[in-house]
Parts: sequence; C-alpha cells; structure tokens
Amino acid sequence: MTDTPPLPRALRSRAWFDNPANIDMTALYLERYLNFGLSLEELRSGKPIIGIAQTGSDLSPCNRHHLVLAERVREGIREAGGIALEFPVHPIQETGKRPTAGLDRNLAYLGLVEAIYGYPLDGVVLTTGCDKTTPALLMAAATVNIPAIALSVGPMLNGWHKGERTGSGTIVWKARQMMAAGEIDADGFIKLVASSAPSTGYCNTMGTATTMNSLAEALGMMLPGSAAIPAPYRDRQEVAYRTGLRIVEMVAEDLKPSDILTREAFLNAIVVNSAIGGSTNAPIHLAAIARHIGAELDLTDWQTHGHDVPLLVNLQPAGEYLGEDYYRAGGVPAVVNQLMRQGLIHEDAMTVNGRTMGDNCRDATIEDDKVIRAFENPLVERAGFIVLKGNLFDAAIMKTSVIGPEFRDRYLSNPDDPDAFEGPAVVFDGPEDYHHRIDDPSLGITDQTLLFMRGAGPIGYPGAAEVVNMRPPAYLIREGIHALPCIGDGRQSGTSGSPSILNASPEAAANGGLALLRTGDRVRIDLARGTADVLISDEELAARRQALLDAGGYAYPASQTPWQEIQRALVGQMNTGAILEGSERFQRIAQSMGLPRDNH
Ligand code: FES
Ligand code: MG
Repeated sequence: MTDTPPLPRALRSRAWFDNPANIDMTALYLERYLNFGLSLEELRSGKPIIGIAQTGSDLSPCNRHHLVLAERVREGIREAGGIALEFPVHPIQETGKRPTAGLDRNLAYLGLVEAIYGYPLDGVVLTTGCDKTTPALLMAAATVNIPAIALSVGPMLNGWHKGERTGSGTIVWKARQMMAAGEIDADGFIKLVASSAPSTGYCNTMGTATTMNSLAEALGMMLPGSAAIPAPYRDRQEVAYRTGLRIVEMVAEDLKPSDILTREAFLNAIVVNSAIGGSTNAPIHLAAIARHIGAELDLTDWQTHGHDVPLLVNLQPAGEYLGEDYYRAGGVPAVVNQLMRQGLIHEDAMTVNGRTMGDNCRDATIEDDKVIRAFENPLVERAGFIVLKGNLFDAAIMKTSVIGPEFRDRYLSNPDDPDAFEGPAVVFDGPEDYHHRIDDPSLGITDQTLLFMRGAGPIGYPGAAEVVNMRPPAYLIREGIHALPCIGDGRQSGTSGSPSILNASPEAAANGGLALLRTGDRVRIDLARGTADVLISDEELAARRQALLDAGGYAYPASQTPWQEIQRALVGQMNTGAILEGSERFQRIAQSMGLPRDNH
C-alpha cells in the first residue's frame, strides 16, 4: 500500500481539478462540476472550494432557515474569492425523529466525514442548530481537520402566552404537570406548547440547541457574538455573510480545527456551560468532539473545572428569560468576559476569526443584568455538574443548579447529612413501562421513592433517549409533590429543569449495575461524596450478576433498522462520548491519510 503524498499549503481541490500529471482523471472530475453553471476558468482558477454542509430541510424545521442563510453564506464566499458548493447532511430533528435523534448524531457524523473527505473541498461551513446537529458537524470537521467554521441558525423568537414567556420544551414539562393536575385539557395542552414556537429557529430556551451553539462559540469554532442571534433577525443574515467571507480567509491561513479545538478550548467550554446553565447533553457531545480531534478530556473535568462556576444566565429552564433576551444582554462574549475577569478562561485559545478568545471578549459588556448577571451577583453559586459513581454505575452526572427549594427541603435538609438522601427504588424498563405504570397505586410510590429508568442508553434504546426525567404519579402531584429524584441510563432534555442523575454508564444494556437493581431495593445518593449505591451486600450483587449473565444479559427490544443494529454493535458509553468505538486511528483516520485515491 502506498500513501498518497500530502499537498502542504496547496489547495486540496487542485488534486481533483488541476492535476497536470493525471489529466484524464482531471477531465473526468471537472466535467460534471461544470454542469450547474460554473465555467472551466472558474474551476481551474485556483479559487478555494468551500462546502456548505446544509442541515436545513423540511424534516428539520429547527434548522430550516439555513436554506435561506446559505444564500448569504454563498455571497460571502464569492465576495472573498471562493467557490461555494452546498450539499445536504443527514437530517437530525430532535422532536420529530423516532426512536430518538440521539441515534442519528453518529450517522450524520459518518456521512459528513465521507462528504468532506471524499469531495474537492478546501474548507467547510457547518450549519449548526438543533441539538445533535452541532456536535455531529463538529465531530466530522474534527475528524477530517480541514478549515471549518460553524454558523448557528439561531433561536426562535420568544414564545408568549397570556403575557408570560413560554419557552420551548420547558413549557411541555409544565403543561404535562398541569394536565395531570386537571388544570388544562388536551386542546389547552397543545395551544400552550405551540405558543412557545413563534418563528423559525431552534428552541428559545437554554436547551441543548442553545447550549451547543453557545459552546461552539466558546470553543472558538463560530464567529464571536454570533451564537445567540435569533434566527429571524437581520443580524443573523449579516453573520451568515461574514461567515462566508471568513472561511475563505481561513483556507488561505490554513487555520484548522486542530488549531482551535485544544484542551484549553474544551475547558473554556466547560466553564461557560456552567455559567449559562447548559444542558446535561453537553458532556456527551464535548467528549465526542474531543475524542475525534484528539484532545484530552475526561468526565471528571466537568466537576473539577465546572462545578464551582456560578450560573450567570437567567434563561429557562433554570431561570426566566429566553433567546431574544440572551442576545440583547450580550450573548456568549458577555458571559466569557465575566469569567475572564475571574481568571477562569484560557484567553490564548485561538478562534475562527484568527484572534484569541481573550481578544474577542475583552471589551464585551453585559447589556441587561436581569438576563446576564455579573459574576459577583449570580443566580446560583456553584452551578456546574457533579459526577457520581458507585455500585449502580461507574459514571453519571447531575446538574445541581436546578435543585429547587421543594427538592432541597424534602431530600437535602437533614442537618446531620445535608448532601445525602436514600429511599426505596421503583424501577422502569424503558419509557413505555413508565407511562404504563407510573399512576398505578399498587407500586406504592411515595415522596420518599427514587424513580429509576433503565434500558434507555446508547445500546438499549438505541441512541440514548431523553426519558429519565419522570413525573410523580398524578395523586402525588395533586398533593403538591412536583418532583421525585430520577436516576437512569438515558438522557434528559436540556429544556427540563429536573435535578435528575443522568447518562449513567455503563448502561443496563451493557449489563451495568442498574441491570441488577430491583424495585424495593434501598438506594443511597451522596452528593458530597459523589456516590450512588444500592444498599445490598456484594455477595447478593454478585449472585444477581451471575443470574443476569446466565439469562443472557439485560433484555431490550430488537433493532428496527440496519443503522440501529450497526450503532448497537459499535457504540461506546455516554461518559466517553457515545461515539463509534474503534482504535484511536479509527476516530481520527482522515486527518492523517492525505488525499483519497482516484475513483477510476
Ligand atoms: Fe430542535 Fe429544540 S427541538 S432545537
Ligand atoms: Mg431533546
């Protein structure tokens, strides 16, 4: 096997369109790209060819506005002397895709790697938005490592209902409780939820979409100040144009993801995530991106670097406001500036505009301190995640900033033991089991019960479903008990404010400790020590494990599509990013392999 020689500083697209040593192949490559109106002179002019990885489509309403924005990106690319080639990315839409959009992140990633690597592209614009689109595109850009810049589609305008802000996703969890309590009927439920989605764009709450786009900016992969611009604003069109201009310059400078996505950049993102009240999906996605670029990042970094950081951004679900307010208050640069003053940001981290994070954010100011608080006046102190482990799992996370007064009074008020609680477990195998039985009085659920969800991880579901936040039975809600502790091997929507223990790894379907748990077992959670244990003897646990293995392991429903089967065979656990596992070379293969071979 011979390696194709690398072309340092030469445009990789020249290997297709301008290769005198291989003129018959060059002719073949050129002729079909003339088909949509480009001239031979243009294609052979030495202009860089820029891909626009298009995630907008009718199946992906959150990202659909990218179909419009791409026109402005093209104009920017052309203005700067490049040629734009737009192409589709496998759709990922959070609320429409069954069994879960989580299944599609790795599929979109795989497809995009092939597109960026295998076609004549010198740089790429990543059109990010709905939850998993941002990590999927960044994972692919990291894997191929050609100049890449992310462009967020931006959040929807604020939702309103009867004079109050209604935030996407967050309103669903509230409406679900209102209906269980008999306060609204089915029509009222739908009207209330629809009010939260008044325009094009992604979820206007600090859900996973706003989180991941904010973190793409905090990582340095998006133009400064651009993540928070609402989708319909004219500023959004303008930054689409500027993104097109900038990617052409980045190709000339050979500024690649590996220059930007360093360990320091990931630590910056962790700190920003705490300050914005970011989603519990962020640790999974950042781990995945870090592993594809080869940056060192461990789940424990979230507690070490993120837990003590206060919550500054007052957005739902942790706070009151929504996306338009976040943008007007200053967005990511205002948050980074507050953190910089405390020495919490690695200011030297490079960003896509060719300047450092410190230079970009040094002069940023808070424009509305109700929405973005000063560091000295936070909404919540120590708002990051804690990492838990024990005999139920090796790793799980909890977002402590959303622990409300009701939860604190009921579970964390023992003066002798203020950070621990214990109670009997009620275990559900998948969301269908939960929906079927949660209101069954024979389960004997009380305000002391801990609810467990298993079979919901990357293998079990497959893709890891956002189903761990479970409501109490309706009879408890009517008594004023709005939340029970929830623990599981699935995920939770970033728009949910439940203080659940999530992303437990290894999952039940990998025969992790949760597979051994039985309804009625007592479980103890200690937030100070970071432990979660079922209170049974090691001998009993070993006997249960043996019985589980003798029975063929934890049972879960059969795969329904080919990709489900492939994902189940290759996927790792959430504490290490839930990526397709292989050798180190497998994760970063295209970075080091030069150009692909000729196709004829
Ligand atoms: Fe797409 Fe929230 S559902 S961004
Ligand atoms: Mg979701």
